[in-house]
Amino acid sequence: MQACRILQSQGLGSRRDCRELIRRQRVLFDGVPVSDPEREFPCENLTFSVDGETYRYREHAYLVLNKPAGYECSRQPQDHPSVFALLPEYLLRRGVQCVGRLDQDTTGLLLFSDDGRFIHDHTAPKKQIGKTYRITCKHAFPPALIEQLLAGVQLHDEPAPLRARQCRAMSEHRLEMTINEGKYHQVKRMIAAAGNRVEALHRQAIGGYALPVDLAPGAWKWLEADALDVLKSPLS
Ligand code: URA
Repeated sequence: MQACRILQSQGLGSRRDCRELIRRQRVLFDGVPVSDPEREFPCENLTFSVDGETYRYREHAYLVLNKPAGYECSRQPQDHPSVFALLPEYLLRRGVQCVGRLDQDTTGLLLFSDDGRFIHDHTAPKKQIGKTYRITCKHAFPPALIEQLLAGVQLHDEPAPLRARQCRAMSEHRLEMTINEGKYHQVKRMIAAAGNRVEALHRQAIGGYALPVDLAPGAWKWLEADALDVLKSPLS
């Protein structure tokens, strides 16, 4: 691919801006200065740097963010800052989108991608990918709450009861629950339908992929091949 197209595809600017960056010798490809914007490079395993910052060529962007409370999963947020404000400009220019949404007060695992197929596969209701939440309930709950959630609870606007795929108590007030769907406020509504109330909600895992322990609230990182294998596995 041409040097200027490579930069553009990775979100470094418009075609014109990228040509200019190269002409002004601000770009190195695999450590070597390049000043011809039309020069061709193989993209596989390519690294390049712009003004000293190094990037790896990636055909698609796949990211994980540890969402803090008080951020909306929207590019046009209404009442809180946007989760997109936590990502660098070059990723926004690539057009990354949230893979599903979390409420503004929910924390934890949020994926982003610019791969339409990946986004579809992880949000389509048919795919039944488990989403695991850690829930702090307002009231201490009896064991019957877990049985109720596993058996299914009826929400007002749903044709049939929604049941948890997995549910276990972590303490008197804390539950871990996995659901297959991703309906609007689903966890909060399920817990309310079972007679309790969510005080705090944290997404811990999607399929077999858990939020990395070293990812601080507000931080993001690339999903590398091992994480993508887990997320793309049919067992998710
Ligand atoms: N269920 C909810 O109620 N809120 C979320 O943010 C995610 C799942």
